[in-house]
Amino acid sequence: MILVTGGTGMVGAHLLLRLTQSGHSVRAIYRSEKSLEKTRKVFSYVGKDADLLFSKIDWVAANITDIPSLESAFEGVEKVYHIAALVSFDERLAKQMRSVNIDGTANVVNLSIAHGVSKFCFVSSIASIAKSVEKSFIDEEDDFNLMTNNYSYAITKYGAEMEVWRGAQEGLKVLIVNPGVILGTGFWKENSGLLFSMIDKGTPFYTEGVTGFVGVNDVVSVMVKGMESDISNERFILVSENIGFKEVFHQIADALQKKKPRVKLNVILAEIGWRLSLVKSIITGKTNSFTRHAAKSANNKSYYNSEKVQKMLSFEFQSIAKVIEETADQYKKDTI
Ligand SMILES: NC(=O)c1ccc[n+]([C@@H]2O[C@H](COP(=O)([O-])OP(=O)(O)OC[C@H]3O[C@@H](n4cnc5c(N)ncnc54)[C@H](OP(=O)(O)O)[C@@H]3O)[C@@H](O)[C@H]2O)c1
Repeated sequence: MILVTGGTGMVGAHLLLRLTQSGHSVRAIYRSEKSLEKTRKVFSYVGKDADLLFSKIDWVAANITDIPSLESAFEGVEKVYHIAALVSFDERLAKQMRSVNIDGTANVVNLSIAHGVSKFCFVSSIASIAKSVEKSFIDEEDDFNLMTNNYSYAITKYGAEMEVWRGAQEGLKVLIVNPGVILGTGFWKENSGLLFSMIDKGTPFYTEGVTGFVGVNDVVSVMVKGMESDISNERFILVSENIGFKEVFHQIADALQKKKPRVKLNVILAEIGWRLSLVKSIITGKTNSFTRHAAKSANNKSYYNSEKVQKMLSFEFQSIAKVIEETADQYKKDTI
């Protein structure tokens, strides 16, 4: 039995689809019935087999911060994919991020050890890797650095990795993947899915920043390939290409047949933007999506090297142009 946390999120839903399609016995945790619909949506993309595949998942109600609820999900589990996290750049959620991302991961690691799990895969992020000033490309040798990654999401993903390495010290076989910005279908109102919705709605802004991007199917493929291999206690950067936000925005606009964003959100405009966004979120009580950190990183240029996974797992990434084309096709179908 394979246990998946975060199965109602973008990466987890795509992983569950892949695992059920390959005939694995799968258990997944969920927090609300409403969230299950997000996973069902991703399954619907495969057509007539969707309901049958979805029915193969043994869903258990659990929260990773609540040990008793989580414990019941571990019965007979051999492998664990730990994907659940609170993904946010809103510093007002710092405490929750610590609880879910660090303490929650510690709980999943501890139960995996207690239940004799044979292999454990954790989805971290490039956010937990220092932005190197000496090297032109960031790789797996670069550690965390509070000077360059001083925001709660990065700190808590790094803290989570420390819990996973602690598990490895206690005998758990682990793999950690550090994906760049993940592009994929089905989650148009959250995280990177927002890029497609924003450009569809005609956002005029682009930024000069550069970062690593990767398709969700590649993230899932590496996780499964890594878990089925003899390789353990390694971390892999998952980046298909390092591309500018401007180019990505323009490619998405072309694929959606929408207007390309033409207004450069320079550092000054970004500084004004995050303050306005903060005021708006305080007045409306809604989560702040354009935070101080988002404004700063929008104009940062970071380049990642993913040769390690390509060599060790003989893996070839899909081009981002192809990922955008396929994701945009699904976006158009979903929003007709
Ligand atoms: N998206 C990206 O571009 C990106 C890039 C790099 C790394 N990552 C990492 O990849 C992973 C998946 O990202 P994603 O985009 O799929 O995230 P997502 O769509 O926001 O999904 C997050 C998942 O975590 C679950 N979760 C949150 N708090 C939980 C808790 N206390 N107990 C149990 N489950 C909880 C959510 O459940 P509910 O449905 O109940 O909320 C959901 O299933 C995360 O670890 C993230 O840090 C993401």
